[in-house]
Amino acid sequence: MRIDVVTIFPEYLAPLELSLIGKARRDGLVDLHVHDLRTFTHDRHRTVDDTPVGGGAGMVMKPEPWAEAFAHVLAEGRAALGEQARPEILFPNPAGAPLVQATARELSTSPWLVFACGRYEGIDERVYEHLAARGASVRLISLGDYVLNGGEVAVLAITEAVVRLVPGVLGNPESVVEESHSHGLLEYPIYTKPALWIDPDGVERRVPEILLSGDHGRIARWREEQSLARTRERRPDLLDAGRDAGDSGSAA
Ligand code: ADE
Repeated sequence: MRIDVVTIFPEYLAPLELSLIGKARRDGLVDLHVHDLRTFTHDRHRTVDDTPVGGGAGMVMKPEPWAEAFAHVLAEGRAALGEQARPEILFPNPAGAPLVQATARELSTSPWLVFACGRYEGIDERVYEHLAARGASVRLISLGDYVLNGGEVAVLAITEAVVRLVPGVLGNPESVVEESHSHGLLEYPIYTKPALWIDPDGVERRVPEILLSGDHGRIARWREEQSLARTRERRPDLLDAGRDAGDSGSAA
């Protein structure tokens, strides 16, 4: 998978060199490129924003650097992936469709993602029109119903949710099958050794007996019940959405 990120803060994306994503990059499973939007400006101040036409607070990102950035990124990507390659262009935006596990799963099958990080009040609407007129696949994705200062943190979250689903990235693919939201429910409680732990307050805390029973059928049923109870308590909206919505839950 190739991932391009266009931002005015390339340093924000430094964590993508760490941990699982860093390893996926070193292993050649993910080819990730971060581009500085200011590279595509031509004035002394490397200006990327201006005041909103029609009035209002804040600043709006200018269309010209974005159009140049997309032309550059698309040409570079096509040189690497082939002239027919078409990316999913993703704009993190609080007005976008909420990121859910199904989104991550779908994006994980795409060979090429391009993230465009807006800042300030947002990007001039004509950038979206320009991309749509060229037949590009454009999506706005929201992390949730709150406002961040820009798209960079959302790119970190979306990239992590997506890349861990790329085959070969996780050491144990089973963990993806079991975790929260993979079946539309929250994950059941998990424990490790010791079976009896005396907590710092002197309270004896035991792993539920059933997990020590070795009876895999009963354990599976217990876990299913626990998942259901937790979901009912913490996220009843997931049950309302219906069990066969499957991957429709939001992030863990
Ligand atoms: N940019 C600003 N707020 C955001 C949000 N909630 N999700 C995605 N991108 C954003």
